[in-house]
Amino acid sequence: MCGIFGYLGQKKNAATIVLEGLKRLEYRGYDSWGVAVMPGGTAKEQTITLKKRVGKIGDGTVADMPSSSFAVGHTRWATHGGVTQENAHPHLDCSKKVSVIHNGIIENYQDLQKKLTKKHTFLSETDTEVVAHMLEEALQKEEFSAALVRKVFSHLEGNNAIIVTHTSSRQIIAAKNGSPLIIGKSADGVLISSDPAAVLTHTKQVYCVEDDQLVILTDDQVQVSDVTTGKKIPFEFTTLEWDVEQTTKGEFKYFMEKEIREQPEIIERIALQGEQDLKKIVALLSEYEDVLFIGCGTASYAAWAATYLFAEVAGKKVSYAAASEFEHQLQFISKETLVIALSQSGETMDLINVMTTAKKQGAKVVAMVNVLGSTLYRMSDQQILIGAGPEKAVASTKAFIAKLSHLIRLVHAVAGEYKLGQSMLKASAGHVQALISDSSWKNLNAVAKKLHKQKHIFVMGRNSATVAAFEAALKIKEISYIHAEGIIGGELKHGPLALIEKGTACIVFVPPGKQATSTLTSAAEIKARGGYILGVATKPNPIFDDYIPVADDNQATLLSQVVVGQILAYQITLLKELDPDMPRNLAKSVTVG
Ligand code: BG6
Repeated sequence: MCGIFGYLGQKKNAATIVLEGLKRLEYRGYDSWGVAVMPGGTAKEQTITLKKRVGKIGDGTVADMPSSSFAVGHTRWATHGGVTQENAHPHLDCSKKVSVIHNGIIENYQDLQKKLTKKHTFLSETDTEVVAHMLEEALQKEEFSAALVRKVFSHLEGNNAIIVTHTSSRQIIAAKNGSPLIIGKSADGVLISSDPAAVLTHTKQVYCVEDDQLVILTDDQVQVSDVTTGKKIPFEFTTLEWDVEQTTKGEFKYFMEKEIREQPEIIERIALQGEQDLKKIVALLSEYEDVLFIGCGTASYAAWAATYLFAEVAGKKVSYAAASEFEHQLQFISKETLVIALSQSGETMDLINVMTTAKKQGAKVVAMVNVLGSTLYRMSDQQILIGAGPEKAVASTKAFIAKLSHLIRLVHAVAGEYKLGQSMLKASAGHVQALISDSSWKNLNAVAKKLHKQKHIFVMGRNSATVAAFEAALKIKEISYIHAEGIIGGELKHGPLALIEKGTACIVFVPPGKQATSTLTSAAEIKARGGYILGVATKPNPIFDDYIPVADDNQATLLSQVVVGQILAYQITLLKELDPDMPRNLAKSVTVG
């Protein structure tokens, strides 16, 4: 998963336009970046000017690059080849007339490269560079054209999006069969990007390129065709509902804090949504016995939460899975199965692969996603747009809370108790607002000060609070790099208790209701071995060394518990002087399998 951005138009500062676009895409990969500027005019001898750097863009500049109205760029998350300047994209051919940027994995690149190494000099270890030399090879027989790019693309195996330019013409040609790509049309030109939000400063008119399509961008038009047959495909630009402000940090130093503080309003907005837009999905949920909720990372925890919510509120058995570990279960998906995919980006490849197979095997597929027009949104039979607005911090916060809030309204709709679900969410919105108040923020900071030097932190919960515990552990891992381990309370004495010694840090999420006592018993077992207990609960308890109160909103208590975990992880990360928005080795959505 990388960030791709390109501009072709009237403005002469294309390199800067592209660099600014890459900055808005850095959450997709930030180990190195590069910009290629096409020469003015189409004179044969002219070559492409390239600038590539290792690391985040930060205050990187392209002021030293030639002024031009045509440039492309890329921000990388390494798959093939280390984090080096040579491996950064764009990649050129030997003549420096072809440029290629890429998102995905070319699974057969070594075989393709073998055929070219005699005549071509490869400068990088990437899978991508082979495309530049394949094009160069083909250009010896024919002019640069969509047909030529189509031919080369047909030899690539795997899910890929390639963006190609050549000095002989003012065209951006892109072909894809995986990885997101959108086209933007502005008053002064055309843009290509991995994410709709990144073109918002130029236009709201976008087209989401479908898999197996090839697009040609020129100064005066955009053409879409089938990547295999070349047959023209009519298309329309859609208008984005988001505003630029939503994609900027505003007064905050980090997106993560901004996104955490947006949650009360998001919960409130979801609580006010009427029941009608859920009618079709509620009907499906009552029709299907075999219902699977599935996702990756934080979204897989929302799927896990669904099993508690549907059991408790609707008395309905549903199952859940992490899509990256579902291969062995795929055989059981059939036309009797309703699969509900949960994803912020709608572009996570492991989930897309499961959904593709599920569809082939006749299952009904529903997508609960945050990005309109994303691959999961377009491939599903029904959709729930979670409406969290653009989420830029790599560690997901508001999109998770929005998913949980929609699950709470959905399960109450299934149970015929919609109003109860709405009032629960409204109450929770107020309580989450209190959690982000300055005094609460200070309290959590005081506790974070006790935790940020820990090497290991154990986070325990029972019932749906287990989900809050595992999500808190994931957040602490993702952004503070502290080894944090989620523990199912009841499993403590079956193993993890062996890890507890004097001073071992444990965060205990105590669920409201009947499971509270057994959770406190497990906490007492930790205390008895000298462990430090931070209790997150609706009532204080002498077992706790420190206590974070959360309101009892029944099933919606989970929202407050999750927000406590988010703020703690965020505070610990700031105390460690780390960047919570762009943690090492991670990226916002994993578009490679
Ligand atoms: C990871 C993100 O790459 O993908 C996580 O860093 C996220 O925050 C996970 O939970 C799944 O992404 P998505 O977009 O499918 O919810």
